[in-house]
Amino acid sequence: MLPDVARAWEHLQRTAQELFARYGYEPIYTPLFEHTEVFTRGIGEATDIVSKEMYTFEDKGGRSITLRPEGTASVVRSALEHSLTANGAQAKLYYAGPMFRYERPQKGRMRQFWQIGIEFLGAPEPTADAEVITVLVRFFEALGLPRESMRLLLNTMGDEHCRPVYRDEIAAFIRAHADGLCEECQRRAETNPLRAFDCKNPGCREIMAEAPILRDRLCDDCAAHYAAVKSHLDALGINYIEDPSLVRGLDYYTRTVFEIQVDAGLGSQNAIGGGGRYDRLMQEYGGPATPGLGFALGFERTLLALEAAGIEIPALPRADVYVARVDDTVTDAAFALAQALRDAGIATELDHQGRSLKSQFKQADRLGARFVAVVGPDELAAGAFTLRNMGTKEETRVALSDAPAAVTAALG
Ligand code: HAM
Repeated sequence: MLPDVARAWEHLQRTAQELFARYGYEPIYTPLFEHTEVFTRGIGEATDIVSKEMYTFEDKGGRSITLRPEGTASVVRSALEHSLTANGAQAKLYYAGPMFRYERPQKGRMRQFWQIGIEFLGAPEPTADAEVITVLVRFFEALGLPRESMRLLLNTMGDEHCRPVYRDEIAAFIRAHADGLCEECQRRAETNPLRAFDCKNPGCREIMAEAPILRDRLCDDCAAHYAAVKSHLDALGINYIEDPSLVRGLDYYTRTVFEIQVDAGLGSQNAIGGGGRYDRLMQEYGGPATPGLGFALGFERTLLALEAAGIEIPALPRADVYVARVDDTVTDAAFALAQALRDAGIATELDHQGRSLKSQFKQADRLGARFVAVVGPDELAAGAFTLRNMGTKEETRVALSDAPAAVTAALG
């Protein structure tokens, strides 16, 4: 990431930190790699991520290691290992960093990409679902993405009571319609039938549109939870579209799943963020039953969506003040002045190369400096320098001893 892009990444992280803190989330950093089993168990053997996309290798100790393809599995593994949710405690955690998936690269899809995510552990209530979904919507809004340009899709995956029965029903449906379905979907009947809803093949989509939907097969508890999530979202004024074909690519989901898609700027990789509930994940790792939910959003796709919406990442000025020196005799004084301003918290730049005064002013302009502090031998003899406002061209004489206070006041 070159500075332009890195600056955007930092802007997204700052926006996330400020927003997530308002909801009580704390930072967590997990390793870039884990024992492979953390992902195979958590994300599921039959998913595309685990079966095709992981960067897995053996380390010198003969252990199977995998570069993290996402953050949830690591956060839950870590929460269990460090008892963050012991005795019914809740944990609200957020993370940001690179993830790795061996996918076919295309626009908005890379092999190393950056995610920001949150995980809310120990929260079974549907209000938690509505809150997490709202944080995701508000994040994109905070970046300036218009609400009309985003589509929030919502679905439910049921739980261990209703999903297996439905899974079998879909497997049978796929077998009964095998003739019209692609080979991959036919295979899915045996491995991961619900993923057939996600097939991009138009023929498959047409057939799967006729398949029974899980929403009509939910057990009472899942139906009540789903209804409550929708009513809480309604109460908050968060618009959503119910999409029974939204199944998401990770096996740990139970009940609520959601995704935010945009049309402009992204082609087929149009999901900028997504997530859901995973009430059984901690048990998969041998821990106590602990509900959880969260989301992750992709940095590169978010950037493409912002670009398409014409939203610029605000540029931070590289320097508020530029210290220009008239000649070499004032170098030490100019350098000391720059340091005093920097120590006072003012972004200050100065010339290291002995450029002419004219090109120092040009450089000050390029950096976006609002003031230039001109240090020359005559003024220096009187213990002062000239402060020039680059906007109004107004010049004032300032005593060196007053510099930090005077410049701070001038900057306003
Ligand atoms: P995911 O949908 O796999 O979910 O990824 C979340 C976001 O990461 C996507 O919406 C997309 O913006 C971005 N993304 C995924 N793969 C790529 C790629 N190859 N290139 C660029 N961007 C990509 C998860 O990862 C879950 N851990 C989300 C979650 C958190 N669920 C519960 N908690």
